[in-house]
Amino acid sequence: MRISVIGCGYLGAVHATAMAKLGHEVVGIDVDERKIEALSAGRAPFFEPGLDELLTEATASGRLRFSTSMADASGATLHFIAVGTPQVAGGYAADLTYVDSAVAALVPWLREGDVVVGKSTVPVGTAERLADVLAADAPGSILAWNPEFLREGFAVEDTISPDRLVYGLPDDADASATAKAALDEAYAVAVGQGTPVVTADYATAELVKTAANAFLATKISFINAMAEIAEATGADVTRLADAIGYDARIGRRFLNAGVGFGGGCLPKDIRAFTARAEELGRGESVAFLKEVDAINLRRRQRVVDLVLDQLGGSAHRRTVAVLGLAFKPDSDDVRDSPALDVAVRLRGLGADVRATDPEAIANARARHPQLDYVDATTDALDGAEVTVIVTEWKQYRGLDPVALRERVASPVVIDARNCLDADAWRAAGWTVVGLGRP
Ligand code: UGA
Repeated sequence: MRISVIGCGYLGAVHATAMAKLGHEVVGIDVDERKIEALSAGRAPFFEPGLDELLTEATASGRLRFSTSMADASGATLHFIAVGTPQVAGGYAADLTYVDSAVAALVPWLREGDVVVGKSTVPVGTAERLADVLAADAPGSILAWNPEFLREGFAVEDTISPDRLVYGLPDDADASATAKAALDEAYAVAVGQGTPVVTADYATAELVKTAANAFLATKISFINAMAEIAEATGADVTRLADAIGYDARIGRRFLNAGVGFGGGCLPKDIRAFTARAEELGRGESVAFLKEVDAINLRRRQRVVDLVLDQLGGSAHRRTVAVLGLAFKPDSDDVRDSPALDVAVRLRGLGADVRATDPEAIANARARHPQLDYVDATTDALDGAEVTVIVTEWKQYRGLDPVALRERVASPVVIDARNCLDADAWRAAGWTVVGLGRP
């Protein structure tokens, strides 16, 4: 199929590459020239395992190219909208500027029968509105909504072999059949392998995405709430998670207590959901998401408080090593990163913060140049009075506590992701403080 992908950020760059890998002829379009230049040269403008190799392979095959000109979308029959929907400045709602401008810019190039597919995460009701725009400005084109569930760090795998496909289709039977056939063809490999396909109306498809992220965020904040109770009672939240996780109805995944969730999706999506629900007069229905957000943000301060406890109450001019800046491992993304936030809070308290991360230093420095960044983990640890592990990179999980004991000024580690072998570290002479653990 000839496919265009509008927006080459995380979602779009991976989607375009995966579609080319699956045999389609794809053009990725973005207004950002530097992004397009990098992608055309086979370099992802962000860190995602396996993506560079796939990009190089797909561009070399001639099936994938990138452009800054929307005119290059013409000739494609399927157009994916994959632009960002960040949180608005000064509010909770999603900013739909990029979605609206992408659709407006695409309209002149659409032909009758073309299918435009929204992948961006949008507030429920957006697709209906955009369908009206297409009906008025590009008659004969069809809108579908096909939310994306990829996880950073597993983006390629999740796109090529998704858990499920969700198609939000128009009411009109012919248009619906055309859109479904186009999506089935685009995803022929996954569909052929028996991936469940859920077809629905626009509103349901939009809500599936919002509900999925809201559920995941709630699951994490639930276990972090249990961590708070564990901290007041001497219980161990990791054992608790193991035990309740054996119940298949609950499941162990996304029950890791720690410094909480961040990234470009969960935090802004739960906020946008509350804002949209309030607009719909249903604010009460998802009011609990405000609590989910509040629990999540409290965990960051909890980590800071644990550092202060270890330092006798003041961080002023004390040396703290912060291991991790990305919002999660295998990513260089620092958007709403709990790890970076902890580093910034400690710096704000006057600590001499030595921060490091295997991939995210450049992005962190661009946002917070005031921190002292070091590339090598060992340099970060030199002379540290407290060490904080805030992103559970495998490099940190595998650190040798015996060798590191000699580098630090004081062998105290705050394991803010509960990712270390605490017994091994204690045996090597460290004081290990977990979250929600005795
Ligand atoms: C999330 C969803 O998992 C994807 O399905 C969705 O497609 C994506 O958002 C999106 O909307 O685009 P992602 O943001 O890549 O994916 O990251 P997750 O793996 O969900 O992790 C989110 C945060 O939760 C991270 O900060 C992670 O450290 C934290 N987390 C995760 C926990 O604190 N505990 C856990 O048990 C699991």
